This record gives sequence, C-alpha cells and structure tokens, in this order.
Amino acid sequence: MSALFTPLKIGPVEVANRVAISPMCMYAADEGSASDFHIQHLMRFAMSGAGLAVMEATGVLPEGRISTNCLGLWSDANEAALARAVAAARRFGLPDARLGVQLSHAGRKGSTPLPWDRSAVLSAQNGAWETVAPSAIAFGEGQPTPRELGEGEILAIVEAFAQAARRAARIGFDVVEMHAAHGYLIHQFHSPLSNRRNDAWGGDAERRLKFPLAVAQAVRAATPAHVALGARITSTDFVDGGLNVDDAVRLARELKALGFDYVCVSSGNIVAGGRPATGPGFNVERAAQVKREAGIVTRTVGYIDGPQHAESVVASGAVDQVALARAFLDDPNWAWRAAHRLGVANVQVPRQLGRVAPGAWPGVASSRSFA
Ligand SMILES: Cc1cc2nc3c(=O)[nH]c(=O)nc-3n(C[C@H](O)[C@H](O)[C@H](O)COP(=O)(O)O)c2cc1C
Repeated sequence: MSALFTPLKIGPVEVANRVAISPMCMYAADEGSASDFHIQHLMRFAMSGAGLAVMEATGVLPEGRISTNCLGLWSDANEAALARAVAAARRFGLPDARLGVQLSHAGRKGSTPLPWDRSAVLSAQNGAWETVAPSAIAFGEGQPTPRELGEGEILAIVEAFAQAARRAARIGFDVVEMHAAHGYLIHQFHSPLSNRRNDAWGGDAERRLKFPLAVAQAVRAATPAHVALGARITSTDFVDGGLNVDDAVRLARELKALGFDYVCVSSGNIVAGGRPATGPGFNVERAAQVKREAGIVTRTVGYIDGPQHAESVVASGAVDQVALARAFLDDPNWAWRAAHRLGVANVQVPRQLGRVAPGAWPGVASSRSFA
C-alpha cells in the first residue's frame, strides 16, 4: 500500500495522490498570454498521473513578470488564452487530474533576460521595464536597483492579485497558489534582507508581514470556496539575518487563520547566491516543522530523489504531499513510473496512451473508460 498514491483532501479539493508537479516558468508566453506551448505543457501534465499540476509563476501585472516571455493573468486576453490551455488539458487529461495556477509578482527580480540568453542587454526598446520593490536594494551586484513602491502602488498590487485570482477561478482552476517564496515581491516584503522600510509596510517582523497578509486576505476574498487556496512560502533565506523556519511557521499559521488550505514549503533565492549546494529532500525537515507547528496541509519541494524517496517522505508523515519540478521535465510520465515501482495496481493512463507493449509496463492498465 503506497502512501504516495493515497488521496489527499486539500480544503475543498481532493487530489488522487500526493504527487504534485511544481510550477515551472516556461518563458513561452506572448504578452503574458499562454501560447501553443502551454497547451501541450499543461495537457501532458494533466495526463501524467500526478494528482495536481500547478502552472508556472503567473504575473498579476505586466511588470510582475520575471521576463517578457512569462505568463500573466492581468487581461481578458490572458484569461482567454489560459482558459484555452486548461480546456485542452481537461478534455484529454486524466479525469482525476487537478490543475492549479501560481500567482506572482516578481518585484526586483523582474525584467530579466531569458535563462538561455543571460547575456542579453535589456532596454525599453526590447521590452524591459523599471522594477519595483519594498526598498531600493538590488538583488545582487550588477543587478538593477528597483524603485521603492509607494503606498498607492502597494494597494494596487494587492488588488491585482485579487483580480488575477478571480480570473483563475473563472478559468476553472482547482487550486490557486500565492507565490510568497523564491525572492519574489511577497517574499521581498517578508524578508529583512530586502525590506528596509520604516513605514506600515516594513520594520519589525509584524510590519514585514503586512503585505504578504494583505495579498493573502484579498486573494482569499476573491477566491470562491470550491477552489483550494495555498501559498508557496520560504523556510529559510540561507543568509544570516534573513528569514528562518520560525518565520515560516508564523506565516503558515497566519495564512491558515485567513482560510488558506495549504502551504508549499520551499527556500532560498532572496539574494544572489543565497542558496548553498543542496542534497535530496533539502526542505523536508523544515517543512515537517511547519506542518507540526502550524497544523496546515503541507507540501514540500526540492530534490525529491525518485519514487522511493517520495514515498518515504510522505509515509513518514513529515509532509502531506511532495512536488517535483525537474523530474517532470525529464519524464512527464514520472507518476506512472513511480506508481508502477511502488506496486500500485491499476494506474490511470489516458486511453490514447494506454496501449503499451506487453511486459513493458507490468501493472499499468489502461485507465477506466472516459470519453
Ligand atoms: C525550469 C524551472 C522553472 C521554475 N519556475 C518556477 C516557478 O515559476 N515558480 C516556482 O515557485 N518555482 C519555480 N521553479 C522551482 C521549482 O518549482 C522547484 O521548487 C525547484 O526546481 C526544486 O524542485 P526539483 O528539485 O524537483 O526541481 C522552477 C524550476 C525550474 C527547473
């Protein structure tokens, strides 16, 4: 009996198993709108057998994107394009597949070149924009210094998160995830390394939480009760004077009190070079502490090293769910293979892909009939 392939209730949504596909920027959008790339991307993840697939960091405003090619959800055109990708995934994906979207604002980590073209020089002519942040502190040496946000702008960003959540719900996502980790804007307000404000939005730990919680409250109010709501949070900045796991526990408790259904515990990337070399399951222990002390459905992510490792992390009770990113890029059928390796009977496979060579997939049967 596999713990990994046991259903999980996340607020109002049940996922068929504890495997989630982690959000991954694909740098393939046009003016924030999902392209044909996203249709195939989401479709194959919906066919993958993972209980949940979460779409990449999706900018709530144009300047909230990481790059010019990042996904967004600030306009009717963005909403229509993403709805088309979700409809395709629903039509051909496994009926049990649950789909989520991660809402984000990149703040000072916006306006970057594409990862495969890091030497590109960005200018207003090729789509770059002025970045904004809680404080005028660059992410790292040689990086642009962002402009400090004014109060009115902060409130407008909070509303943009809420508006994007409404759009996500209209599209029909099962899960909405607020991105409060990896050094993006919400994390920038939370961490003392990037927030040096002396007003209501910065200073002590409580005031540094004001923006994350304002966004959380607005997104909660905008998200219908049938959609599961969560946040990716950071469990350490890996830098002296930065956030640590106690800050993560506090944020998770506050989110739970606001009606959030889950947290996904990650770490790092608030400052350039701010992540040491990491080994298998490098966030698991901190995630377990968050789960224990905040009492909220908890996922973790980061170098989950194969099916047996995923199984043991979930079976130990440390967390409720694991997310994998690179493993699914490498093998979109990771969940089928994992289920097979763990001896799960009757793994669901989309009908179109179910006719595997005899013996090649012992234990993998075509999914039950669905049209
Ligand atoms: C290509 C790529 C894009 C990513 N984009 C996002 C993103 O949009 N949002 C996010 O929270 N994490 C993002 N991440 C981080 C992953 O979700 C994940 O946390 C990280 O890769 C560690 O998991 P892994 O060891 O299973 O790859 C990205 C990772 C990769 C490899």
